[in-house]
Amino acid sequence: MKKNLVFLGPPGSGKGTQAVKLAQKLNIVHLSTGDILRNAVNDGSQLGKEAETYMKNGELVPDHLLVGLIESRLAAGELKDGFILDGFPRTVPQAKSLKEMFVKNGVSLEAAVLFQVGDDEIVRRLSGRWFCPKCQATYNYPTNVPKQEGVCDHDGAQLQRRPDDEESVVRNRLEVYRRQTKPIEDFYRNESLLTEIEAEGSPEEVFQALLQEVSKVAVKR
Ligand code: AP5
Repeated sequence: MKKNLVFLGPPGSGKGTQAVKLAQKLNIVHLSTGDILRNAVNDGSQLGKEAETYMKNGELVPDHLLVGLIESRLAAGELKDGFILDGFPRTVPQAKSLKEMFVKNGVSLEAAVLFQVGDDEIVRRLSGRWFCPKCQATYNYPTNVPKQEGVCDHDGAQLQRRPDDEESVVRNRLEVYRRQTKPIEDFYRNESLLTEIEAEGSPEEVFQALLQEVSKVAVKR
């Protein structure tokens, strides 16, 4: 089923976890700007060099770099059969640029899904997060542990922590979210595209709530 969605929410609210599941179920593209930037840093590309310090400190990477990145994916036709944008847009200027890109390319956004989770749960989740540097799979102690301690279930790579999951950086990311990203909730509310999900339950409970909301979007349009 083709769907054009953006996922919004604070760090650790489960956007990535839910995007992987939903993209698989609907057979649509999952584009995570965080994953793209982390890969760019690991590859030592120009984008990675420009993004690295911002990411390490929990600050946002400048808008023009992200807008250019999404624009090139759109122009390459990567999003034509449905997509979830996970982590983009993250500022009002990014949301406005995305709207312009969609108009230019004849794409219509169907919903902006906002995952709501409190700060304490976010800090708990991110302090238990491990990820696979090879396939980007995400794990969590104690809620989603790999079969073998410290090793990815999919490809056997050694799991790592994200440098920006250190508690002081997480607190800054939350602050940055409130200051720079939260205003886009109103942007999408005004466009009648905002769908809110209470996301403190287990990953499966959140997924069921997400499926319900996404099916309502299908009925509405
Ligand atoms: P990004 O990678 O996008 O980070 P984020 O938005 O801070 O989100 P996270 O990946 O930390 O969390 P998530 O909501 O995806 O949660 P997850 O599913 O992993 O961005 C990183 C950095 O890149 C930014 O700080 C910025 O510098 C830069 N950047 C990226 N996009 C940008 C943009 N557009 N503009 C400018 N800069 C940009 O879950 C977290 C943990 O919780 C996992 O361990 C998971 O297993 C666990 N978990 C998930 N759901 C549940 C649940 N229901 N119950 C219990 N545990 C759960």
